[in-house]
Amino acid sequence: MPTRRDVLRSSSSALVAAALLPPGRGVSSPDHRERAPASGPARVASDDIDAGPIAAESEPVSLSDYETLARDRAPKMAFEYISGGAADEITLKWNRESYDKIRLRPRIFVDVSKLDTRVKLFDQELPFPILLAPTAYHRLVHPEGELATARGAGAAGATMVAGMLATTPIEEIAKAATGTLWFQTYILKDRGFTRDLIQRAEGVGCKALCITSDSPVVGVRNRDARANFSLPPNLERANLRGLMRTGGNLRSPEGDIYTPILDASLTWKEIDWLRSFARIPVILKGVLNPDDAELAVKSGASGIIVSNHGARNLDTVPPTIEILPDVVERVAGRIPVLCDSGIRRGTDVLKALALGANAVLIGRPYLYGLSVGGDSGVTRVINILKNEFKVAMALSGRPTIASVDRSVIWK
Ligand SMILES: Cc1cc2nc3c(=O)[nH]c(=O)nc-3n(C[C@H](O)[C@H](O)[C@H](O)COP(=O)(O)O)c2cc1C
Repeated sequence: MPTRRDVLRSSSSALVAAALLPPGRGVSSPDHRERAPASGPARVASDDIDAGPIAAESEPVSLSDYETLARDRAPKMAFEYISGGAADEITLKWNRESYDKIRLRPRIFVDVSKLDTRVKLFDQELPFPILLAPTAYHRLVHPEGELATARGAGAAGATMVAGMLATTPIEEIAKAATGTLWFQTYILKDRGFTRDLIQRAEGVGCKALCITSDSPVVGVRNRDARANFSLPPNLERANLRGLMRTGGNLRSPEGDIYTPILDASLTWKEIDWLRSFARIPVILKGVLNPDDAELAVKSGASGIIVSNHGARNLDTVPPTIEILPDVVERVAGRIPVLCDSGIRRGTDVLKALALGANAVLIGRPYLYGLSVGGDSGVTRVINILKNEFKVAMALSGRPTIASVDRSVIWK
């Protein structure tokens, strides 16, 4: 009798999805846009780790289950775009392996009958330290795109970092959002447009600004190229109306590594420029080197995100969890340090916090949730991870965020 896990690992993907999806959520349509958005049961006892996320036999129970299902649900080109990494995907592999090889050091007979997962970031209280990282083009995998993500994040109590490369304008995302929104942007060649965009985001209530700092050019994405990835004609980079032709491919023609909009000449002086008008905290995303972390503090940034862009930019950079301790040591508590890339389990969240992160972000997993179940898929992905994190806190004998320190890691 095959177990659910056997079924998930089966090579017959159609069978997998058919076995896992509740009735009425079939996968036969090749075009996800023809289906009604799946409502999906978000039956999670979010504050009760004994119960945990309640899953019927047919429902995905882990973030990797969602990836398995999304492989079937999403159009192939979209799945390749989301799941892929740069070049040979060495860092993509390391991002996972590095978490897996860290061992935990639990304590017993610690009162964990109450857990406190709250964290304070930039004067905002988050109920738990997991945010949704900015990702592009949500309508690739669901007709409601970023609107569904915003609703799903809000229902789970998670902050969503809305992306500049959204397929829905930030104003509409903000209207749909029921929880806290941050905004991510690149500093574009057109500084006036960049400034307007930031002010639009501030104007609709975004509470922090993530500046993607690791992308003067786009990484070598062999998987995208093999899948012939470009934005389908019915979708657009909705925040960039007025700046460029908003569909198609962002890349320049072959032979040119630069893109029409990203500015490869950025230097630290741009942070002074940003701070001269930004009214919300400026967080630099994509810091890997402790020397850059020092410069980020000196530049007046409010926070940094240790990120290798989900292994999508420069292949063979280290996994973020390995360099996090050095960055945290250099920053020495002067500004919050967040971390992403490869987080898939509650134990990963525990490990990142133990090594000094103030909070973590996830990227691909919630896109898989969106693809499989729309807003409730997003909610459920967050709730699964949150619940796993609480289980990890309880079973390691660390009832508060403050107690999740380096002693949780088995040297
Ligand atoms: C499909 C996709 C699109 C992304 N788009 C952006 C983007 O436009 N800007 C950005 O700063 N990061 C982008 N990222 C990177 C995420 O913000 C985040 O750093 C990464 O996904 C974290 O790794 P994980 O997917 O392993 O959780 C993207 C990631 C994915 C998977």
